Amino acid sequence: MVDDLLTNGYNAVYGATPKSPTLRRIWHEHAEGPDFPEEFGHVSFVTLSELRRMATELRLKPGDTFVDLGCGMAGPALWMASETQANLVGMDASHVATELAGARANELGLGGQARFVVGSFSTTGLEAASLDAAMSEDALQYGPDKEAAMAEAARILKPGGRFVFTVFELDSATAEHLPILGVDMVDDYRPLLEKAGFSVEIYEEVPGWPEPMTAAYSAVVEAKETLTKEMGEAPVGALVLEMSMTLGAKPYKRRVLVAATKK
Ligand SMILES: C[S@@+](CC[C@H](N)C(=O)[O-])C[C@H]1O[C@@H](n2cnc3c(N)ncnc32)[C@H](O)[C@@H]1O
Repeated sequence: MVDDLLTNGYNAVYGATPKSPTLRRIWHEHAEGPDFPEEFGHVSFVTLSELRRMATELRLKPGDTFVDLGCGMAGPALWMASETQANLVGMDASHVATELAGARANELGLGGQARFVVGSFSTTGLEAASLDAAMSEDALQYGPDKEAAMAEAARILKPGGRFVFTVFELDSATAEHLPILGVDMVDDYRPLLEKAGFSVEIYEEVPGWPEPMTAAYSAVVEAKETLTKEMGEAPVGALVLEMSMTLGAKPYKRRVLVAATKK
């Protein structure tokens, strides 16, 4: 069961996100970057060049099936589906996110190529050895049991399947008192991946990762009043709480890009 605090927070934020041009503008300007296609907008820190790199590393062929773990409203995953002609299964703990993702897939003409499920990193509900690849963008650090999450990714992938993701490594000295992030503080995902049956080919720090995070989070905190008018108090409260906590405590050691193969 995914932490209720987290799921309720995300449900509230996702429900209010479509009402907020200000949040969209902040995210596009500071996190996505000016060249990121608006129709695939997201709430992570994935840039267009990073997404292209992920596409290369996923090695998807038309007709393959891939999962996005913690897909949110599925902007990056739908971009990937449209770019590769592979079929997408988007998985997220937030039912509001998966509903918005489904509507968005239809609007983009990708409804026939995409389906969405509610689940958790450790219990996706997906069939064993059913997927050609898995991706994830800036979501796995929220998992309360990362060893179980890596084992679940290995279970649902076919042998030879690729697992490509970005994630934040947690610094236990600064994260330990934080809700959610302090629950299972992993500062290196490689041992967990290897234990789960992956061989890790790429594990590298994303250059310049702190700047977009600090800029986007600071802009959201500064725009609290306008955002509250557009989105309402509860969602903005959840957003500002997480972002100001992250800016203050600095719980992230590094943001890394990972590519691994299921043996
Ligand atoms: C920062 S958002 C990123 C969403 C998406 N990848 C994107 O690029 O917009 C993190 C996502 O992880 C999901 N999430 C957090 N913990 C989860 C868990 N234990 N199981 C499944 N999803 C989870 C949240 O609901 C949220 O949608």
